[in-house]
Amino acid sequence: MKTMVIVAHPNLDTSRANRALMLEINHNPNIEVRDLYQIYPDWNIDVKKEQQLLLSYDRIVFQFPFYWYSCPPLLKKWFDDVFTYGWAFGPEGHHLKEKEFILATTTGGTENSYQSGGDNSFTISELFRPIQRTITRCNGIYLPAFVTYNANQGTDAYFAQEAKRYADHIQIPSSVLVH
Ligand SMILES: Cc1cc2nc3c(=O)[nH]c(=O)nc-3n(C[C@H](O)[C@H](O)[C@H](O)COP(=O)(O)O)c2cc1C
Repeated sequence: MKTMVIVAHPNLDTSRANRALMLEINHNPNIEVRDLYQIYPDWNIDVKKEQQLLLSYDRIVFQFPFYWYSCPPLLKKWFDDVFTYGWAFGPEGHHLKEKEFILATTTGGTENSYQSGGDNSFTISELFRPIQRTITRCNGIYLPAFVTYNANQGTDAYFAQEAKRYADHIQIPSSVLVH
């Protein structure tokens, strides 16, 4: 299975969590890792190129720090620009059909906080719904997300362990991941 990971972090230089996740998969021959903020410093997304790339992969992972209960803005723009009418949805818009998508995020909040009654009231699954529906609206297969919680407090050992769990998660066959 060919997998592309699109990393969207506005400041990877100061990142600990996303950098650890990224480093773990960077040299994996089965995974193509792309740093969106580095590729498009001017935010001028090459839509044709992105669409062409999507066609070549079976699984697409979006990796990002959780910002205001959503993804960083360049990734939102990427969805707006790349998932076009007539290509991703609507008439003839079948190009993402059957492709697998995984969201992978790191949160400042703890796992306890992301539940009913917790500080953040909602689970990550609930908060991911707009992106989930964007993907399913385009007939993509939305697979269970990966989350590293408490990402501002993590020790190096915690991030090393999370990075291994991440590499496993994004390579597990969908039949196993959903059960
Ligand atoms: C602008 C901004 C918004 C943030 N919003 C959230 C949020 O909604 N929920 C949360 O749990 N953490 C939030 N955080 C914390 C980040 O998710 C956290 O710092 C990040 O996941 C750490 O990963 P890194 O080491 O790769 O930067 C926010 C941080 C910033 C800078």
